[in-house]
Amino acid sequence: MNVLIAYASYYGSTERCAYKIKERLRYLSSIVNVSYFSADRLQDYDAVIIGSPIHIGRIHRAVRKFLESNKTALAEKDIYLFLCGLDTDIPESVMKDIPDEIKNKIVFKSLLGGEIVKDNLSGFEKMGIETMEKKMKTDFSNLKTIDDNKIEEFIGKINEV
Ligand SMILES: Cc1cc2nc3c(=O)[nH]c(=O)nc-3n(C[C@H](O)[C@H](O)[C@H](O)COP(=O)(O)O)c2cc1C
Repeated sequence: MNVLIAYASYYGSTERCAYKIKERLRYLSSIVNVSYFSADRLQDYDAVIIGSPIHIGRIHRAVRKFLESNKTALAEKDIYLFLCGLDTDIPESVMKDIPDEIKNKIVFKSLLGGEIVKDNLSGFEKMGIETMEKKMKTDFSNLKTIDDNKIEEFIGKINEV
């Protein structure tokens, strides 16, 4: 099996997860930031791992564009989806961002946890996070919830094929 790992990341945590997954796959794999992806390359792969952060309840804009532009070719593949975010479950709004043709092809999906480094955020983003902090009565400064066990579980699902 030949696997493509296609991801996007605002602040790097999804990218780090994508590389961790690549390191541990027992299959031949390529990794690409979807912003630099050329569609004709999809024909080389049997399975596609898609990685995205959750940002204000939605999938990364570049991943949404990648899914929409390549939905016909992706519908022919086995899809594995991982998300980085602070929610406890994958929100319904995130699944709405995935075209129906591809939804049926998702073999396994997982929310791996997320990371916030407040100093990296724009003023607008900081305001959004501070609103969430107040609502959830939680301090998000330098928060890291990425769960290595979930990454292992995710890799296991692909390696067992
Ligand atoms: C402005 C902003 C909005 C966010 N919105 C959500 C959200 O709606 N749901 C969620 O689970 N996580 C949310 N997060 C947390 C990110 O998904 C998390 O920090 C993730 O690890 C970021 O991935 P990245 O480093 O690859 O960009 C948000 C983070 C920021 C900065």
